[in-house]
Amino acid sequence: MNEKKKILVTAALPYANGPLHLGHLAGAYLTPDFYCRYKRLNGDDVVFICGSDEHGVPITIAAEKEGVKPQDIVDRYHEMNKKVFEDFGIAFDYYGRTSSKVHHETSQAIFTTLYDKGFFKKKTEQQLYDAKSDMFLPDRYVKGTCPNCGYEEAYGDQCEKCGASLSPTELINPVSALSGEKPELKETEHWYMPLGDIQPKFEEWLNTRENWKPNVMGQVKSWLQDGLADRAATRDLSWGVPVPLEEAKGKVLYVWFDAPIGYISATKEWATEQGNPEAWKDYWQNQDCELYHFIGKDNIVFHCIMFPIMLMEHGEYVLPKNVPANEFLNLEGKKLSTSRGWAVWLHEYLEDFEPDLLRYALGTTLPESKDSDFSWSDFQARVNNELAAVLGNFVFRALSFTQKFADGKVPELVNPSETDLEALKAIQQQKEKVTAAFESFKFKEAIQESLNLARVGNKYFTETEPWKTRKDNPQACNNTLYVSNQICAALGVLMDPVLPDSMKKLRTQLGMNDEISWVQITEEMIPAGTAVDAGEVLFTKVENEQIEAQIKRLEERAAANDPAINYPPLKKNIEFGDFMNIDLRAGEILASERIPKSDKLLKLHVDIGIETRTIVSGIAKHVDVSTLVGQKVCVVANLSPKKLMGVESKGMILMAEDSEGNLKFVETEAENGSSIS
Ligand code: 2FM
Ligand code: ZN
Repeated sequence: MNEKKKILVTAALPYANGPLHLGHLAGAYLTPDFYCRYKRLNGDDVVFICGSDEHGVPITIAAEKEGVKPQDIVDRYHEMNKKVFEDFGIAFDYYGRTSSKVHHETSQAIFTTLYDKGFFKKKTEQQLYDAKSDMFLPDRYVKGTCPNCGYEEAYGDQCEKCGASLSPTELINPVSALSGEKPELKETEHWYMPLGDIQPKFEEWLNTRENWKPNVMGQVKSWLQDGLADRAATRDLSWGVPVPLEEAKGKVLYVWFDAPIGYISATKEWATEQGNPEAWKDYWQNQDCELYHFIGKDNIVFHCIMFPIMLMEHGEYVLPKNVPANEFLNLEGKKLSTSRGWAVWLHEYLEDFEPDLLRYALGTTLPESKDSDFSWSDFQARVNNELAAVLGNFVFRALSFTQKFADGKVPELVNPSETDLEALKAIQQQKEKVTAAFESFKFKEAIQESLNLARVGNKYFTETEPWKTRKDNPQACNNTLYVSNQICAALGVLMDPVLPDSMKKLRTQLGMNDEISWVQITEEMIPAGTAVDAGEVLFTKVENEQIEAQIKRLEERAAANDPAINYPPLKKNIEFGDFMNIDLRAGEILASERIPKSDKLLKLHVDIGIETRTIVSGIAKHVDVSTLVGQKVCVVANLSPKKLMGVESKGMILMAEDSEGNLKFVETEAENGSSIS
């Protein structure tokens, strides 16, 4: 029997600003649920914590978009997300929320302790300020060009293209996400966490961590290599946990300061609900407790560096033993995108299929060490070829045969053959493999090795041919049924972490009660004489039409959200003669220069075959000015000349504007001067 361990498992608190989709489930919620269910079966003392992250700019921006209060947004999505997790069998012990009183008090207390210890550095600095909206622009309130990769839609806290962590003032050409105005700089004060100063001590601790996944440790090491920078723990916002300092009136804690503390406050609320308000300390303030944070890869820096440093400097808390982060899940070969409608919403999935099917299908395609892909055809194949054809089929064969030919009772095992004994031995062998996989956070492997036991069962059943032996060697037939029932019973526990609903059904068919445990998985799980009942099949096949309907819905939604429909409507028809009045020519840019005091206009010298023209074009923000010479273009050659910023422009260069407002040249291979019509 294992020694009973205290295990505290947290799953990233999802922002309560929208419904949850497949990517959430695969990223941070299925794996901790598998793990906690496995650990509970092992007899460990597990507390599994999650809840809603209700602060931060994602919430206030969602509220502003809808014209409602942030509280309305978080109330709506907290309830919705809590329910969908329950419906998927994600067995949290407590699902908290960061707008709760306990959370506000807990985060303020932790801030105050750190403050009293002299942890924070106060800095006076210039920050971006939107005068029109009368507010500072932290994090996602500002967009602009990434100084790292040139992406024009980077946020004030991060560039989603290159992953760089940014501060708003680093953005090139920043624009307020609230008013679209160019922000100004205004002085403000903030309290910074001096992560760099703690780096040596932190690295010492990090070096004591064992068996971290390479994708996680790799990212952490790369942050450390660059040297940790100070990070502000406060923000000039009104929505959040107020900073508990007289001199910081009107400021709130940075969402990434308070959100991970949400794990602690939710555990406190759980303890109170258990009738033992101090019980949270047995986990958070117990150095023997094993703490695991399950997250997606975008949360690594916060859970592996920032939060551990906060707790380390506070001094009273346990630090994580491991942070088994996952990478990202793609959908049908493309990046998931809620704004583009490229997502499968969990509440919608449940209208059409059982939760266990997705738990299994996603479990077998988890982005454990690199990004992975979910496709509906793979979902269908997993359900039909593995759940139905292997697991369900084996169970049905074993149980229906027992029902028909053994009076519905598990027969005695007498004089077992080598084949019988080999099959029984597979129970222990597969159990060991599954155990090792769970212990090392290799969930895909745990599932495959669990299913392999059903494969062994099927092969054994086919090889021992009970439909023949029942006539000429009844004891051999009975032995087949005894062994097959033991394998079914082992599967009923072994696969319980992944398939809780279906394995409960299976155990009922086998006359097992719900008092199950990992140690119970042996070669003699259900005694001879136990009544079994084949009942209904565990898994029905998913039909092609069901899959086609899902793909159709996905594509229709993506089309409805496709920026393609944002193209301007077609203009009304013109006569052919009107079109022929436009003199279009093929040309080539010979030289270009910026027009002083304008960030848009370029003065171009363009060869249009007959002559060289000066054309002023407002494309400076859309093209790489250094590569313009030699660019082939189409020119409107008979446009009346016009003075722009003091330069006479004779003609216009044709540009195509894409759905996101980017301008691209209309190129031609024709020689300069060719007439275009
Ligand atoms: O990335 C996110 O969705 C964050 N809301 C996760 C927070 S995890 C923890 F710190 F609370
Ligand atoms: Zn970038």
